[in-house]
Amino acid sequence: MTPSRRHFLMGAAALSAAVATPERVRAAIAQEVAAPWALATADLEGDIAPRPMRLVHGRAPAGLEGTLFRNGPGKFRRPGGSATHWFDGDGLLRSFTVNDGAVTLAARFADTPKRRTETELDAVVTPGFGTAGDARARVGSADDASAANTAVMVTGDKVWALWEGGSPLEMDAATLATERFVTLRDDLKGMPFQAHPRFAPDGTVWNVGMSGDQAIVWHLNRDGSLIDARVLRLPRASYLHDFTATERHLIFVLQPWVFDHRGMPYSTQFAWKPELGTQVLVVDKADLTSTRIYELESFSFFHLGDGWEEADGTIRFDVAAGRDVAFAIAGARVLVEQRGTVPGEHAVLKLVTLHTDGRAELASSGVTAEFPKADPRRAGLARRLTAHVAGERPDRPLPTGLAIWDWDAGRSDRFLFGDDQIMEEAVFVPKPGASAERDAWLIAPSINLAEGVTELHAFDAARVSDGPVATWRADVALPAGFHGAWRG
Ligand SMILES: [Fe+2]
Repeated sequence: MTPSRRHFLMGAAALSAAVATPERVRAAIAQEVAAPWALATADLEGDIAPRPMRLVHGRAPAGLEGTLFRNGPGKFRRPGGSATHWFDGDGLLRSFTVNDGAVTLAARFADTPKRRTETELDAVVTPGFGTAGDARARVGSADDASAANTAVMVTGDKVWALWEGGSPLEMDAATLATERFVTLRDDLKGMPFQAHPRFAPDGTVWNVGMSGDQAIVWHLNRDGSLIDARVLRLPRASYLHDFTATERHLIFVLQPWVFDHRGMPYSTQFAWKPELGTQVLVVDKADLTSTRIYELESFSFFHLGDGWEEADGTIRFDVAAGRDVAFAIAGARVLVEQRGTVPGEHAVLKLVTLHTDGRAELASSGVTAEFPKADPRRAGLARRLTAHVAGERPDRPLPTGLAIWDWDAGRSDRFLFGDDQIMEEAVFVPKPGASAERDAWLIAPSINLAEGVTELHAFDAARVSDGPVATWRADVALPAGFHGAWRG
């Protein structure tokens, strides 16, 4: 066939379009519209002074009194360099105080050495979970790198901002003013105290800190004073963000995301090796040398639910289980880029059963879920309900609603706001004087994307699908947080 001029011109046009010059790429990026969920990782430029939230739906539940403290990254970008991963923004402590039906919102950044250095340099320079940092970082200890951005623990009139690699950062519960890094014992200064303490039926608190295949096991009183700290060697140096516990046992789930080589950022030290399967280590709280190991199929995870033990010794706990670590590595980067498709499949709520004969089982609820939370009155004890965020889809990376899964009935009670809301983790708040598991409210904020503001919702745990019984609206949007704690 003789090429016609028309064919030639079309071919040249196609070739020209296919050449991705740097100028073309930059122009394409500039034209790309920020994702509709971009407020989730927007920067907050300063603290939020206490301000009322306005009741915009329903009625404040009678008897609901207390404060929801929450933590999460609030600033990612600076002119001289930015955090490149969702887990590396500066910690922003928020308080939603419910008093006589009225809600007051306040938020303050954790005043960390990292934030001070980076404010002075006007650049994010400190290495983190997924941010490399650079030579301008001033890191003499783990606490110097702390973003204090992951979770919060209430200890009397103080709250501790928790992170993964260093000490708790104590803040005043009333003002959210940063006070000091907590040293639980002089010889343990700076040792890691992770973001997911577990509360035991005896009123004490257990937590862990990880270093390779060793875990420091912390045992505290509820006021934050130390009972004991021991070092435990694990069968595998695995990435472990969360552990769980029953009344008598500590449970370490060792996913096949294992230490491979030293380096920065932190997450690059681990290699995903699904052929290894997942191991579960069960440790006797009364004797940390008494251990059992179970083997399960491979899954990835960040979060577990509280564990419990049945009369015959069978142990159960739930996990928001993923297929791989694509979200942890790449997905959480795209969230900070605020545009494009977020890689990684959403986690699914599953139940792990550890039988006394050594067998382990993983049963799926079939529902997508993150941030599993349960009734604090039953922490470490038998229960049937798990609250979680819901509604993630491949084209919608962040949750749009809330649900409770009933493990006994195999049923979900779910409410989806739709794509106009980004739902955050809910806490269980027991109703005063009640004892049944469903006699509770679920208290959780969201970002209302249509209004461009943060909201606080109260759901009745017995009727989640009815939607919130009360919604209060702020006049400001805070970026999405990670974890919270309620103080009644
Ligand atoms: Fe977490």
